[in-house]
Amino acid sequence: MFDIAEKVHDETRQGEAFAPFKADANAYRKRFYIESYGCQMNFSDSEIVASILNNEGFGATRNLEDADLVLLNTCSIREKAEQTVRKRLTEFRKIKESKPGMLIGVLGCMAERLKAKLLEEEKLVDIVVGPDAYRSLPGLIEEAETGQKAVNVLLSRDETYADISPVRLDSNGVTAFISIMRGCNNMCSFCVVPFTRGRERSRDALSIVQEAENLFSRGFKEVTLLGQNVDSYYWINEATNETVTFAKLMEMVALINPLLRVRFSTSHPKDITEEVLRTMAKYENICNYIHLPVQSGSTRILQLMNRTYTREWYMAKVKQIKEIVPGCGISADIIAGFCTETEEDHQDTLSIMEYSAYDMSYMFFYSERPGTLAARRYKDDIPEEIKKRRLQEIVELQNRLSLESNKRDVGKIFKVLIEGDSKKSTAEWKGRSSQNKMIVFPKINNGLKPGDYVNVQVNECTQATLLGQII
Ligand code: 5AD
Ligand code: SF4
Repeated sequence: MFDIAEKVHDETRQGEAFAPFKADANAYRKRFYIESYGCQMNFSDSEIVASILNNEGFGATRNLEDADLVLLNTCSIREKAEQTVRKRLTEFRKIKESKPGMLIGVLGCMAERLKAKLLEEEKLVDIVVGPDAYRSLPGLIEEAETGQKAVNVLLSRDETYADISPVRLDSNGVTAFISIMRGCNNMCSFCVVPFTRGRERSRDALSIVQEAENLFSRGFKEVTLLGQNVDSYYWINEATNETVTFAKLMEMVALINPLLRVRFSTSHPKDITEEVLRTMAKYENICNYIHLPVQSGSTRILQLMNRTYTREWYMAKVKQIKEIVPGCGISADIIAGFCTETEEDHQDTLSIMEYSAYDMSYMFFYSERPGTLAARRYKDDIPEEIKKRRLQEIVELQNRLSLESNKRDVGKIFKVLIEGDSKKSTAEWKGRSSQNKMIVFPKINNGLKPGDYVNVQVNECTQATLLGQII
């Protein structure tokens, strides 16, 4: 199926090959090549895998042909994500024909969902490793080297990889992701994640702060705290008996240095607390941006999705965010054509988008995933043309909302963290505002570099970008 959403926004980053920022690959005995698909959590996991492999004498390469070990970190969220991976695996078959010693491993959510079946279905796969089993990779590689098929898809109740220091892959040296928890206990009926990533568990807060401090000391200026549902972060410091909530954790990271920006993703409308919003308002370096997936604007559909909030509850949250964190950017995930969705339900989605005035959204049509609650309980009964038409309407509305939101920013001044050259020109910088909007502006010759903050006045905009000048 053609997924319009993925044309509009690249939430599902596809198949990016990584190599460490400053790697001395010659220092290693062997080379690995890794491609990651899906959500930010997967990209973050690949950095843990890279660290484990470095310790085993494997250096990263960007060149598939040079690799002794080729890894795909995969996503199962929609059928299309899995199809993309399967296609990529058949491309690897050709390379393996001329390089029989090369090992191919599948990591991540597809590994977890399909388990040993993957070895049978995709005959050339040698290693299958689920998201909680990356520590066993060295042993699995050894097994595979002797010609056996190697699988570990055990899920864990306590694995957080807290002590593993991720190797930053393809880094801009300015922004980085820190995984603060794993798994998910919400049983959204459409979602495969609870099955592929297991039970929710929070990582040691002190190790998170340490990782952020370490990044800051290396010149990084922004960290994004990552979890499927960050608001349910909960950790007890056994030494002091202190409990650390997400709001507290954010504060601990914000206090490292005022020049270190803090972002987070993803929030669940049912769990985001007033304490979180007040903490955001209190610290200038906690960015004013919340990704708050709505999924649908219809209370009836939300109930079928098991989201555990109503349309009114969600709208009240949006209102509260705008009151406590004025000017806060808000984005959403939206699913078109969930089981039994009527035109009226669809109109409710459009109207909640207008109400929330999202700056941006990730938009999808419903894709039934085997084993989920929805697959077991409800019929995927909305015809594909209707799903597509509704999605198209959602996309068009979001395009208008994004443009309106950007137009409201023309004339305003934003503090921007420079991330690097703009896509189009080395004569321009790009960076983000606190509200997570991309701003592009001409370089002026005054020794600025990525990682610096500048005040930029917005003069013009497109639907996707603000254009301005340093003041
Ligand atoms: N079909 C379509 N979209 C889905 N998402 C999750 N599961 C599905 C599915 N089965 C979307 C949700 C979620 C985002 C990460 O992906 O909007 O928030
Ligand atoms: Fe990430 Fe979900 Fe895809 Fe797994 S299924 S990679 S958790 S988006």
